[in-house]
Amino acid sequence: MTNAASQSAQPSGIASQRCINPSCGASFSIGERVYTCTRCGGPLEIANPLPPVSEASALRARWRTRAASLDPRDRSGVWRFREVLPFDAAAPIVTLGEGNTPLYDAPRCAQYSGVLELRLKHQGCNPTGSFKDTGMTTAVTQALVLGARTVVCASTGNTSASLAAYSARAGVQCAILLPRGQITSSKLAQSMDYGAIVCEIEGNFDDCMRLIQEIADDPSIYLANSINPFRMEGQKTVAYELMEQCEWRVPDHVIVPGGNMGNSSALGKGFDELHRMGLIDRLPKLSVIQAEGSAPLAHLFASLELASAKDESSCLEALAPVEKPQTLATAIKIGTPVSWKKALRSVLRSHGCIIAVSEQEIADAKAMIGRDGIGCEPASATTVAGIRKLTAAGFIRREESVVAVLTGHLLKDPDYVSSYHRGTLSLESKSEDGTVALLPIRGAFRNAPIQVAASKNSILEQLRRKNPKTL
Ligand code: F0G
Repeated sequence: MTNAASQSAQPSGIASQRCINPSCGASFSIGERVYTCTRCGGPLEIANPLPPVSEASALRARWRTRAASLDPRDRSGVWRFREVLPFDAAAPIVTLGEGNTPLYDAPRCAQYSGVLELRLKHQGCNPTGSFKDTGMTTAVTQALVLGARTVVCASTGNTSASLAAYSARAGVQCAILLPRGQITSSKLAQSMDYGAIVCEIEGNFDDCMRLIQEIADDPSIYLANSINPFRMEGQKTVAYELMEQCEWRVPDHVIVPGGNMGNSSALGKGFDELHRMGLIDRLPKLSVIQAEGSAPLAHLFASLELASAKDESSCLEALAPVEKPQTLATAIKIGTPVSWKKALRSVLRSHGCIIAVSEQEIADAKAMIGRDGIGCEPASATTVAGIRKLTAAGFIRREESVVAVLTGHLLKDPDYVSSYHRGTLSLESKSEDGTVALLPIRGAFRNAPIQVAASKNSILEQLRRKNPKTL
């Protein structure tokens, strides 16, 4: 390492894996291949010895300096923050130069959502087009540390594309479990191209998730879903990068989509660590937005609000799964999110909230994000739809600063976009007796191609008709 301060801000002590269940708190070494607490079954997280508050400004300066360095670890927006990651200097880092994603101003989305300032942190600009890469770099590195021969995951498409890419870089076998017919063709194509063994099963994502946890019992196999605490360590660095981009001024609200709840858990952990290290002076309110047809945690949150029971311990056993999740935002079509306890804890601690938005709201919000020149996949657009709803409800005030995290790139699901603009988008739902109903989505911001004769005059005429003021 090149800069002089580099040794002084190293944390003392060693990291461990700890059960988040307040009544358990069991601890495991970071060399153990465990995903859930072997004592109580609770979720695990990495307990990091963090640098002391007195080192806050030295750390900020060092991280900024690294951004200009050519060391492959510094080129990564994850490994640049390695003081807070549970790996030693000899770890065989697997990186594709993840992170370092843009934070965009989004004035049209701000106006649409009813706030003065809205910024979009575009995690879809990662190497495989989704936020998963920031977690896969650490998960696959840990797989190498543990000597795993095969890495596996269940997925709605992005986790698998990302794991396939990172395991290809690492030269380990990758096997992925997908619900047949429910993954967009772009995501499936990525996993095939990166050489993963792609297993499609009859069933939904939740069935895949149950099965993959059974498979991961085998000691040569390493599970990379978000119950894996090492993956969350990479994903938490988004909070670090975001705060650096905000010049360490904490936004009032950070809004994320919710599926399996890894992203919200990881961001929550990141903000919590930043706060404890004195790098930020308060927590942003972290809120999670789900799609109405796949919203188990939003339902639980609403019931807690009704019962005024918003403390952590009173709700940790209470999630009712959604048996047949529905949404065109296929990335978050999940009825039993594995990381819901961690996510709920982060939301409650930061005084955020969890709500659901409709298919129509998601589709229109997505088109509005497009009008700001920014392309995302449908799941990401729950955020802007959610901000609009939370502003109307008075939870977000007009003058408050808001950051939404976009999780996937537009090209992950171009069919959805095209159908929206052509006016053919609809959600198919099957009732118990097998009858199929179609819920059409009205494209409030439709922009279908027009058919024009191949002549200069007809083209100019069409342009005038579309917008007389511009010609
Ligand atoms: N947005 C996108 C684009 C996603 O792919 C996912 C999850 C989410 C949001 C939700 O994030 O699960 O951390 O709450 N995709 C997973 C997958 C489930 O398999 O690709 P989460």
